[in-house]
Amino acid sequence: MRKVIIIGYMGSGKSTIARLLSEKMQVKALDLDQIIENHTGVAIKNIFEAEGEIYFRKLESKIFREIMDSDESFILSLGGGTPCYANNHELLNAGGAVSFYLKCSIETLYQRLHLAKEGRPLIAAKDEGQLKEFIAKSLFDRSFYYNQASYAISADGRSADEIVADIWERLA
Ligand code: S3P
Repeated sequence: MRKVIIIGYMGSGKSTIARLLSEKMQVKALDLDQIIENHTGVAIKNIFEAEGEIYFRKLESKIFREIMDSDESFILSLGGGTPCYANNHELLNAGGAVSFYLKCSIETLYQRLHLAKEGRPLIAAKDEGQLKEFIAKSLFDRSFYYNQASYAISADGRSADEIVADIWERLA
């Protein structure tokens, strides 16, 4: 059984890396945001709007814990905030799980996210100046949790294939 967890800020490439790694390792890829949406039948941004962030964080933690309890092998990409709430970070290396933090600079995240705010409730309404400030502040607040991962992988200026190769080597 192999449990690999991919974490990082919004826009760091978690889902893409999990999918590519899953093809290489022949282990199924799971995406926590997607599982929450399938489970509720509601888009994440609508859960935030209708129920608020605290409701979402509780649901996110519950579903994350259920997935981690299973005996199956998987590569799981988390939401950007998942490790930072409800002591979820304690599961990042528990029970043989290995976790990877895709580490990106504020500038890289800003460049990606200002084109992809839609569907991301925490940033959708922010203008460019507010977005940069928000990324800088929340990355600072969240770094403690992200750094609980087994490995931090530099993701700035590297192709997805290079990042996957880096993760692959550390899993060998
Ligand atoms: C969030 C990130 C999102 C999603 C939700 C909250 C966050 O996932 O879980 O909008 O707190 O950073 P992605 O990192 O996949 O965008």
